[in-house]
Parts: sequence; structure tokens; C-alpha cells
Amino acid sequence: MRRVRHSVFALAAMLVLASDAAQDTIRIGEFASLTGKEASFGQYSHNGTTLAIEEINAHGGVLGKKIELIYEDDQSKSGQAATVVRKLISRDNVVAILGEVASSRSLEAAPICQAEKVPMISPASTNPEVTEKGDYIFRACFTDAFQGKLLAEFATKTLKAKKVAVLKDVKSDYSVGLARNFISSFKTAGGEIISERDFSGGDKDFRAQLTTIRAANPEAVFVPAYYTDVGLIIRQARQLGIKVPMFGGDGWESANLAQIAGSGIEGAYFSTHFSPEAARHEVREFVKNFKAKYGFPPDAMAALGYDSALILADAIKRAGSTDRQKLRDAIATTKDFTAVTGIITLDPSRNASKSAVILQIKDGKFTYLETIHP
Ligand code: PHE
Repeated sequence: MRRVRHSVFALAAMLVLASDAAQDTIRIGEFASLTGKEASFGQYSHNGTTLAIEEINAHGGVLGKKIELIYEDDQSKSGQAATVVRKLISRDNVVAILGEVASSRSLEAAPICQAEKVPMISPASTNPEVTEKGDYIFRACFTDAFQGKLLAEFATKTLKAKKVAVLKDVKSDYSVGLARNFISSFKTAGGEIISERDFSGGDKDFRAQLTTIRAANPEAVFVPAYYTDVGLIIRQARQLGIKVPMFGGDGWESANLAQIAGSGIEGAYFSTHFSPEAARHEVREFVKNFKAKYGFPPDAMAALGYDSALILADAIKRAGSTDRQKLRDAIATTKDFTAVTGIITLDPSRNASKSAVILQIKDGKFTYLETIHP
């Protein structure tokens, strides 16, 4: 009897020790598409997030503790995002979650974080509905209400196009939403959508849709989609003799785009969140440190992944606690926060209002063209 009681005490003591040890760090969860169709999104955002946390820890961490980043790969698959986010919350008991880049996967995770009252900051998901999932859901970037509008202005003013064709991915919330926002702003500006065709992300043959688009004789073609699909679409469009400018949104951004698209990408345009060419001090430092660590330059996802971690660490400091509700309230009051992608103030809808940039592909490289302010 005694021995049994003794061992029960020993076990209880061990559990206390284990939970103390667990609290030596502040655990943050991250979910990203490290493999699969949008792998470069997840890899770059994860690299940015990792760099931020290393820098924060090198400066002593927050609240006297180091931050521990626990990350999961959702393999660019729907369904998998929900699974790994549940795991981060219940198994790892993280104080907050960073992720994802792709809007469809953020939309999948957001209701889970909201129900569990775990603050979530998406670095890069622009679909307006993401943060509408509840008051625990934030983003470090602008929304597609803004991006759709600026692309409509770009088409009208810079491309001087009045008749535009649209090719969108019906499987992607990002693509459907950005197409809708673009179309309504473009029509308001007096433009006409002369052809609107659909595909499903992962398709390999776009010639039927592109042939219809070619027959409509547009002055420009808008493709709000992700780089793997965009690359093939541009390649096939040029093969079919479509010579007019092609343009898109942030989903185009990947170091792999030009290679998938081939030389037909030359001259095309897309909007995004960040240019490593910007002269601001924060940008220069970030680009230098990122290159030193990884050996290649950062892109928008890397910068937003970095910023999302900085916003969270700053909120933990201001909350003075990792209590999830206090943390939520502190994130919500993020104001004039100097980040790499701009000065971030989160509005009452938990979105950031920031400038966008337009990049053009020149000699296979993404070249800065212009900045558009909200
Ligand atoms: N904005 C895209 C989405 O919401 C993701 C993305 C952000 C892609 C930034 C590239 C660069 O799905």
C-alpha cells in the first residue's frame, strides 16, 4: 500500500516538473504548405517566420522566455490544414497560431482557432472572409477588396485596357474572390469583361479556355491564380498566339514561376506585398539577414511570415502574458507597428491596411514598377 502511494506521489511530482519544463518557453504554432503544389509559399513564409523568431530569441525572447516555434506541413492539401491546426492546439497547447499563405487553407483553420479561442495571424491570406471567421482571427496583409481595386486601376490606367478576359481557379477561394473584386472595380471604372473562363487548380491543359479567350480578342488577360497553374497558363497562352499583356495578383509570386512559364512570361505583371528593392532601413536589414541565413533573397511570403511573427511577439510583450484572451486583445490594438512590409495598424476588422507594389517580369526577374497606396 505504502509503496503504491509513494509511486503515485512520485508520478505527480514528475508531472509538475514536466509542466514547469513546458513553460520554460512560449510555444507558437505555425502551419504552412512546406510540400505539395504551393510549396514555395510555405517554404518562404516559414523561412521568414523562423528568422524573426531566431532574432527575437537572440535579443532575449519575450517576457523573459524564449519562443519555441512548433510547425506543421499541411502539404498544400485541403483537409490537412484542419488536421495539423487541431494537433497544434490540443497536442502542443500553443498560445497562438501563424498561418497560412493560401486563403482556402486559412479559411479551413480559422473556425477551429476561433472555437478554441486561440489567436491566429495569417501572414498572407488576402480573401476578405478569412478574418470574418471571428474576433480571434487576424492578418498581416491587405485584403483582396484592395488588391482587386488596385489591379482594376492598373488595367485601366497603366495597361490602358478597356476589354479584359479573366481566367480563374474555381477551386481556390483566393482566385474566386480576387476575380470578383477585380471585375466589380473594373466595371465601375468603365471597363468590360469580354470573356470569363474557369479551371480547377492542378489542371494541366488550359487550351480550351484559352482558345475561347483568344477568340474574344481581349486587350489584356487577368489570371488571379497561383504560380504553378499560372506558369502553365502563360506557356499555353503564348503557344496559342495570345500576345496581349497578362497580369495577376500576389499568387503569382514564386521563384519557380518563370521556369514553369518559360520565356512567354517576359513583360507580364503582378501585384504583391513587398519588393526587396525598397529603400527603407527595415527592408534592407531584413533582405541582408535573410540572404545571409538562406543564401537567396526573400519574397513577399518571406517578408509577411517575418512580420506575422513580429506582430505576435510585440503583442505578447504588450499583453504581459500569454493568456489567450489578453493576447487577442493586444494583437487587436497593434498600431503603427514598423514591419518589413510597411507600417502596420490592424483595423477593427483585424486587417492591415498597407501599400501594394506592382512587379514586372524583365529578363526573367521580378522588377519593381510602382507602389499603390490604400
Ligand atoms: N494572397 C494569397 C491568398 O490569399 C496568398 C499569397 C500571398 C500568395 C502572398 C503569394 C504571396 O491565397
